[in-house]
Amino acid sequence: MKFNAPRGTNDILPPDTLKWRYIEKKTHEIFSNYNYQEIRTPIFEYTELFQRGIGEVTDIVEKEMYTFEDKGGRSITLRPEGTASVIRSFLENKIYGQAQPTKYYYIGPMFRYERPQSGRFRQFHQLGVEAIASNDPALDAEIISLGMRLLQDFGLNDLELHLNSVGCGECRPTYVDKLKKYLNENKEQLCDNCKSRIDRNPLRVLDCKNDSCQSVIKDAPKITDNLCESCADHFNDVQEYLDILNLDYIINPLLVRGLDYYTNTAFEIKDNALGAQDTVFGGGRYNGLAEEIGSRDLPGIGFALGIERLLLSLEAKDIELPVESGVDLYITVIGEQAKKESFKLLDQLRNKGFRTEIDYLGRSVGSQMKSADRMNAEYTIIIGENELNNNSATIRNMKSGDEKEIQLSNLLEEMKQLVDKEDI
Ligand code: HAM
Repeated sequence: MKFNAPRGTNDILPPDTLKWRYIEKKTHEIFSNYNYQEIRTPIFEYTELFQRGIGEVTDIVEKEMYTFEDKGGRSITLRPEGTASVIRSFLENKIYGQAQPTKYYYIGPMFRYERPQSGRFRQFHQLGVEAIASNDPALDAEIISLGMRLLQDFGLNDLELHLNSVGCGECRPTYVDKLKKYLNENKEQLCDNCKSRIDRNPLRVLDCKNDSCQSVIKDAPKITDNLCESCADHFNDVQEYLDILNLDYIINPLLVRGLDYYTNTAFEIKDNALGAQDTVFGGGRYNGLAEEIGSRDLPGIGFALGIERLLLSLEAKDIELPVESGVDLYITVIGEQAKKESFKLLDQLRNKGFRTEIDYLGRSVGSQMKSADRMNAEYTIIIGENELNNNSATIRNMKSGDEKEIQLSNLLEEMKQLVDKEDI
């Protein structure tokens, strides 16, 4: 019997794991510069949290959740996203009793039963931020700039920021009625999927890529022309703060996002090089979410970035992350006695923080050297009976080919001088 990983999941193998670690390390650094703190919530939650939080009439809840009954008969769902869990945790742990706003971030796997394709998986990884308990438009700009800063740090400078306001509980229902009326008047030109969306979730029609739907959508009433005064002011202020930070954006009134909790600011960062799944990260305000899942009126804003998409975006632009796999020293041994002595040295070197390796397959000197090469060893040393007897050996810089005779008993000191410890 042959086992494969489930469809839509990926093994992340070395050396790629180094890229992941680099991304995670940068995320921790940059997010903490912006004073966001890490939160870790469970991988699964009660299903109802996502039904209420994300919305019953969304693709995620209708079609994409990994839901099962546990042995106690409770309905459990693998988290398809992080926001609902973070707000659940914020409410459950009464964090609202502390100084506000609360600024959290998370990194971890999410699960959606989608049709796998490039940039779309069933288990994927997000890094996300949520800033809770403030409606300040400056925070919207902070969140967006934080995402852009992260991408810039990875070398991605030319991605498009699409920005919209999807209004609030006051102005959106009036807009939705207007939109429904318009869509019904043009129903014949819409695809079957959009026809059925008119009554169930008309905003999603604005997201349809079908050519015939597009011709209807382009003349549809725009949410940005139908915002109430306070939403319009908020949206203007967000833009002003983005201008202060010199961030370019495209106002896109068709940007509606796939989750129902959004209010006011909605945004997506797109990379045209990615094809159909072109959104590297997306987010927005969700001022009604805490009320929906916990009867507490608390504003919030955040985004989540897909790590797999970030990697694809880097690949499309031939950007190499500065990661290096390899060892500082490979000890090539000849004979049993040399192996035993070297094994002691290996332990001492590792204890001092040097990445060190030795042969475990009883190979010839030539094969051991090949192994050292494959491992990207910076230095190699050959230790045999002669070297042990003379207490001296030759250490070789694998890149330059330079060699140096050293006292074996001084190997640790020599390595300290040779290897720049800052780089380890
Ligand atoms: P989302 O737009 O559903 O938003 O997902 C955010 C990002 O996760 C996407 O832009 C994409 O990079 C990545 N992503 C989503 N689905 C997949 C998939 N099947 N395969 C690979 N990558 C994927 C949210 O999840 C919201 N919770 C974001 C948010 C946080 N809004 C406010 N706070």
